[in-house]
Amino acid sequence: MCGIVAAAARREVSEILLEGLRRLEYRGYDSAGMALINEQRGLQIHKRNGKVKELEAAQLQEPFYGSTGIAHTRWATHGKPSQENAHPHTSGQRLALVHNGIIENHAALRKELIDVGYEMASVTDTEVIAHLLHQHLQAGASLMQAMQKTVARLEGAYALAAIDVEYPDTVVGARKGSPLVVGVGIGENFLASDQMALRQVTDRFIYLEEGDLVEITPGAVQVCTLEGESVERPTKRIQEALETSELGDFDHYMMKEIFEQPVALEATLAGATTVQDVEDSFGNAAAGVFDRVTNVQIVACGTSYHAGMVARYWLEEIAGISCEVEVASEFRYRKRVQHEGTLLVAISQSGETADTLAALRNATEGEFIGSLVVANVDNSSLVRECDLVFLTRAGAEIGVASTKAFTTQLVAMLMLTLALGRRRNMAEARQLEIIQALQDLPHYVRQTLELNSAIQTLSEAFIPKRHALFLGRGIQYPIAMEGALKLKEISYIHAEAYPAGELKHGPLALVDDDMPVVAVAPNDELLEKLKSNLEEVRSRGGELFVFADREAGFATEDRVTVLPMPHCPEVLKPIVYTVALQLLSYHVALQKGTDVDKPRNLAKSVTVE
Ligand code: G6P
Repeated sequence: MCGIVAAAARREVSEILLEGLRRLEYRGYDSAGMALINEQRGLQIHKRNGKVKELEAAQLQEPFYGSTGIAHTRWATHGKPSQENAHPHTSGQRLALVHNGIIENHAALRKELIDVGYEMASVTDTEVIAHLLHQHLQAGASLMQAMQKTVARLEGAYALAAIDVEYPDTVVGARKGSPLVVGVGIGENFLASDQMALRQVTDRFIYLEEGDLVEITPGAVQVCTLEGESVERPTKRIQEALETSELGDFDHYMMKEIFEQPVALEATLAGATTVQDVEDSFGNAAAGVFDRVTNVQIVACGTSYHAGMVARYWLEEIAGISCEVEVASEFRYRKRVQHEGTLLVAISQSGETADTLAALRNATEGEFIGSLVVANVDNSSLVRECDLVFLTRAGAEIGVASTKAFTTQLVAMLMLTLALGRRRNMAEARQLEIIQALQDLPHYVRQTLELNSAIQTLSEAFIPKRHALFLGRGIQYPIAMEGALKLKEISYIHAEAYPAGELKHGPLALVDDDMPVVAVAPNDELLEKLKSNLEEVRSRGGELFVFADREAGFATEDRVTVLPMPHCPEVLKPIVYTVALQLLSYHVALQKGTDVDKPRNLAKSVTVE
């Protein structure tokens, strides 16, 4: 989604704000803007349609400086991407404001403001917030009081940051339903929608809570509640090494992140060499909760939802525990009947996805025996609000198409399967076998990465295609779904996944020379069935691409291309085959010339509904 960076310092901050935006750009990249207060020249603003580099160019051409400022990179919700709709929005030539989220009552507020004489320069929901703030300032409120009165009128979700020329060293902010952190410096303070934007200037952060308002100046940070009551929020020092946002030898973050998977998996598994270690990864409170679990309900979105679908097979087949999986945006609005003893499991790379968070928050008292989040971002909203936390150690994931976050989520879910399975008489030998397989996983992923150039060659067949079908059976069906999602996200080829057995119930009708069919890890029986299906369409040009165990005995033949995959334990196949499909979509997108890391219309972290 959109990204916010703000600074109140005693030094020039335009470069700090631009660097912050570069680090956040993967979240939204429709337009970008920056506003600074300059003692001589007042409020200075640059806004540009397009990516942050357009804003940088504007700043190079017509530089302006200041020590207090706000900046924003936008993913359009209300109003198309354009310079007018770009943030910051201003009012009365005195204040500027940036916003993440969606204001649901913006139409009523807009009408009210127009009725009292405000002119709207954009069609955004955000602009009404700027005018409301102005109205309260004109009526004599201080900047902080004006923010408090403004947010009291807002329905929906927001993270806000605002500056006003009458308060040249101050930034005020507020959060509800959208993240905002304070970066604490020495003689300077910052705000951002994600701590990663500020890791260049500080490693100390205050995580604002829902409903918090904040005022920062170079020397102070003051947090208060919606009611104006001053509150203390702890300052936390981030321990990990600086997240690398450098590309290094890679051309794209997606490729870098695909190749980081062996290390990310090792880090996520670190120390888990016994079943007890595995269980300890879920925290001290886990045992008490796991003892009472009889069912699991998983909620997630996008790629994380696919991790949940894979986990359902593991939990039911290996741990013998019933499991349901649902996309969070459906789950949150549905009347449901929950079994007793159900653990709610949220899977989310960012820990901020609005629908997943809402699914957790909407759970009624007593509906679940507890909540667990598998997340990649410490201190994110889901991490703070769930009872149990498993942190994947994938490191910062910048590419919009999720790769290493997904495979580390799968590891987390296999570890959950072990922790719950041991309580349901899972044989010790099976437990040890899975732990050994997990230890060996990075090795198999490395072997798969060695197939990069073979996959690149295979990918060429997809370049002229407009559609693709992905088939999987059993636990490989969600992997086929993930393969199709990756391909459509970044290459814009229309791709769908089906359980292989469904091919003849409809999708077969679509197979012609414009429709490559990708089969994921088929067993003998499946491949034979596929081949006989394809016989029927071979004359019409149907072509099959098979990702199969190199020891399974499949061979390339006319219109059937086999990619021999490493021979690995069955339980690891969903993870290992995913890596090959990631490489396939990357190479297709690369050759099609799309923006691999920032595909059109998408955003990394969807913090609005
Ligand atoms: C967006 C991203 C996906 C991600 C999904 C869920 O759609 O582009 O890559 O899978 O959100 O995000 P989460 O952070 O909850 O895993």
